[in-house]
Amino acid sequence: MMVPVHIAIIMDGNGRWAQKKGLPRVAGHREGISAVRRVVRASVDNNVKYLTLYSFSTENWKRPRQEIEFLFSLMESTLVVEMKTLHAENIRVRFIGRIGQLPEKLQKIIGDTEKLTFKNTGLNLTFAVNYGGRQEIIDAIKVLSKMKFSVRDLDEASFGRFLYSSDLPDVDLVIRTAGEQRLSNFLIWQSIYAEFYFTQVLWPDFSEDDLKRAIDDFARRKRKFGGL
Ligand code: IPE
Ligand code: IPE
Ligand code: MG
Repeated sequence: MMVPVHIAIIMDGNGRWAQKKGLPRVAGHREGISAVRRVVRASVDNNVKYLTLYSFSTENWKRPRQEIEFLFSLMESTLVVEMKTLHAENIRVRFIGRIGQLPEKLQKIIGDTEKLTFKNTGLNLTFAVNYGGRQEIIDAIKVLSKMKFSVRDLDEASFGRFLYSSDLPDVDLVIRTAGEQRLSNFLIWQSIYAEFYFTQVLWPDFSEDDLKRAIDDFARRKRKFGGL
């Protein structure tokens, strides 16, 4: 069976999950962490090599400050607890996005987690935090111009090396939960030939079986990449 090498997930619907239960929105974010644990495990079990999770977009700064602060502190406390386990499971953890704009404590634990898992050879787990696809392209141009990279030598491969995700392959499968069918500024450069899988399931309810269903659906797609 064709297994997607790189799965990217837009984890949506935390707020609606909480609302349905009469809970504050942040309860949905907290419950979303258990879904992250499940998809990480299921990705390992299904031989997925790259899993990228959209955790905070550059547009999410429009949310109330309290919710934003809750999200960052949730990321921080989760990483503190989970980094050793991720390392023990040979998982390589990366972060993409404008990391320098995040709270210092979160930046520190992000750096520590990347350093700790740097040499791991199992699942490549990437969190997109303060990530935007357009911002990624603009930041790449800023870096290459600072390096005096000759624009004449620019092609898709050389440009790709300036992206945050320079060591990640193109996305094979984008999954979005909670019924919305849009990209919301996620991995626009890397998803040009991705297959899309949309589900009504709200992120906190997303299970190992849901991931398996998406992978099975992907296996039935006929990818043509512009050819015949
Ligand atoms: C996704 O859930 C989590 C983030 C964007 C951080 P939402 O918070 O967007 O949940 P809904 O879309 O309001 O239900
Ligand atoms: C996309 O979800 C961002 C993340 C999942 C981190 P949003 O809930 O922010 O997207 P829109 O606003 O509905 O497009
Ligand atoms: Mg949403």
